[in-house]
Amino acid sequence: MPETLTITDNRTGAVYEVPVEEGAVRASALRQIKLGEDDFGLMSYDPAFMNTASCRSAITFIDGEKGILRYRGYPIEQLAVASTYLETAYLSLFGELPTEDALYRFEHEVTYHTFLHENVKTLMQGFRYDAHPMGMFVSVVAALGTLYPEASKVDDPDVRLAQVVRLIAKVPTIAAWSYRHNKGLPYVYPDNDLGFAENFLAMMFKMGEQRYVAEPALARALEVLFILHVDHEQNCSANAMRAIGSSKVDPYSAMAGAAAALYGPLHGGANEAVLRMLAQIGDVKHVPAFVESVKAGEGRLMGFGHRVYKNYDPRAKIIKETADSVFEVTGRNPLLDIALELEKIALEDEYFVSRKLYPNVDFYSGLIYQALGLPTSMFPVMFAIPRTTGWLAQWLEGITDPEQKIARPRQLYVGSDARDYVQAGDRKEQPSSELAGVI
Ligand code: CMC
Repeated sequence: MPETLTITDNRTGAVYEVPVEEGAVRASALRQIKLGEDDFGLMSYDPAFMNTASCRSAITFIDGEKGILRYRGYPIEQLAVASTYLETAYLSLFGELPTEDALYRFEHEVTYHTFLHENVKTLMQGFRYDAHPMGMFVSVVAALGTLYPEASKVDDPDVRLAQVVRLIAKVPTIAAWSYRHNKGLPYVYPDNDLGFAENFLAMMFKMGEQRYVAEPALARALEVLFILHVDHEQNCSANAMRAIGSSKVDPYSAMAGAAAALYGPLHGGANEAVLRMLAQIGDVKHVPAFVESVKAGEGRLMGFGHRVYKNYDPRAKIIKETADSVFEVTGRNPLLDIALELEKIALEDEYFVSRKLYPNVDFYSGLIYQALGLPTSMFPVMFAIPRTTGWLAQWLEGITDPEQKIARPRQLYVGSDARDYVQAGDRKEQPSSELAGVI
């Protein structure tokens, strides 16, 4: 069976044979299909990359129909039970689970890069008291690049590795300090004797005590959440990281862009939106009416649906179990009953079933974050801490891919043909536009 695709151009009758590699045809292979010498050639049109692979990647595998997620071949369910965040980070970045020795060295490197330059403190103090922590996070990540000018040498493997360690190590400190800033509390410096999750919780919640000791069940729950959020192949923010990184800018600038993409309510901002939605519903008895309003197109059921998963999001299953272990310590989140009822009704309802809309990772994660005492504005930041690893793994893979060029999509131009400039006084009334009434 030839691994090719035969295309007949019905406009000209010409027949073309295009190779099929790894279940895909190269869009550039269509360029040979032309109407004449002056024709640019056929393009593929795919807004939102609905059916376009933008790269070859060996990091994360997802089968959305079957609800499978694997990092470097390892099922997420096994990693969530047996691994730690830093071990999973090593796996995602370097392709293999580390030996004990390699893991010790990696953990040591990360632990000893958690401090932020003192200038960062001044920078953060410049934000208004109520600045959104994700806005602070995006800005501080970008600003870090100015402190490490050597980071621009993105073709040097040693330089790249140093920035990878720095970023993974420093994002919890940035996150915790943005929280403390909102609270008007003094920033807490990292404690190198604590593990990754314990140290983060200490920087968040330490008050007058000598050492903040996190409840082990809560630290482990956080570690599981971090593992689940490490990577998710070519999602909106990973795509931003790769696209910005393809210009060979330093990884801090690229990651600020990726974090900005994550901030949006359709991506990492969804867990914040879920909590607002649950609070707005307010009571289990209001759930049916809310579901009806969603079906009538008055809004979306936040935390439901996914571009790739058309079956239960496997991360959502694990998070639901993790939530139980957290609530045993913190007490039951009163919004949980509303969430459970919403899920029950939605999973039986034809509207959601026919559209294959199931709970995604964000549906329950917000309830856990709230139980840990975090305000909703911190939720996307909690996503960004572990996703830093995924962004960097994607960036490393892209920057070392001989096929990667600067990301530069084509467009289908649908605007005016060439026309002559008209003096202001000679212009006719504008047709109504978005700006009408504003300007
Ligand atoms: N509630 C109600 N209807 C929905 C929802 C929802 N959450 N999601 C999709 N639909 C409907 C949509 O209206 C459309 O219906 P119709 O065919 O009648 O027009 C159909 O389902 C397909 O929706 P779509 O917008 O074409 O799907 P998409 O793949 O472009 O969007 C999504 C995926 C995640 C953006 C979307 O499902 C959504 O907005 N969900 C709510 C936000 C959310 O929870 N986001 C977190 C994603 S997981 C974490 C992450 O990776 O960042």
